[in-house]
Amino acid sequence: MKKLIAGNWKMNGDSASNAELLAGIVAGLPGLDACDVLVCPPSVYVASAVTALAGQSVAVGGQDVSVQVKGAYTGEVSADMLRDVGATYAIVGHSERRQYHGETDALVGEKAQAALAHGITPVVCIGETLAQREAGETNAVVKRQLAAVIHAVGHCVSELVLAYEPVWAIGTGQTATPEQAQAVHAVIRAQIAAATEHPERVRILYGGSMNAANATQLLAQPDIDGGLIGGASLKVADFLTIIRAAQG
Ligand code: PGA
Repeated sequence: MKKLIAGNWKMNGDSASNAELLAGIVAGLPGLDACDVLVCPPSVYVASAVTALAGQSVAVGGQDVSVQVKGAYTGEVSADMLRDVGATYAIVGHSERRQYHGETDALVGEKAQAALAHGITPVVCIGETLAQREAGETNAVVKRQLAAVIHAVGHCVSELVLAYEPVWAIGTGQTATPEQAQAVHAVIRAQIAAATEHPERVRILYGGSMNAANATQLLAQPDIDGGLIGGASLKVADFLTIIRAAQG
């Protein structure tokens, strides 16, 4: 299975800087096709990113998706709409959505299911807070979050992409060590293996201050199948270095 390197741009960029970033990524990609690449711009820029990447092997995704299909849900973007403008993925259940928008485990599961039902691959984020890690609850929290997703998507578990993102590592520069990340990824892998006959199809990304300097070691772990990258995905050279690290 190819690794997947995904950029989560969060609420950053504008038309000019996005064009520059995408052109830089495209220019640096030749020869780096041993991994899959995904960028997730803010929803208003998804369509223009798809246009800018026409003919390139870079996928585009949303950063969230509505659980609803259509109708009176002001501010929401449906999976159908993402697919309509050419996106193929959506980040679901990012810790910033859980924290600032009150997204529950159950809602995250429903969003993953809504995405799959409408042809969008969800990149489902799970991960513990610092307090939970210090209380020894890491595995229990991750298992609980993942169980809600497995429950919601039923027989489609093998179509998920997962991202283990320890909340304390996101945007802090405090990356999980490769050993810490691998330990949780192994727990996730075991839970997936119990839920589908095709656990090998599920990519488990690591996210949380992955950067040009630490990507190689993280991506060398047996159960780390790629990265979900925030800050470093906004810098062409850093993002390309991480893609290079994923060439295996
Ligand atoms: P970071 O963000 O790489 O800036 O820590 C990762 C994420 O939140 O997906």
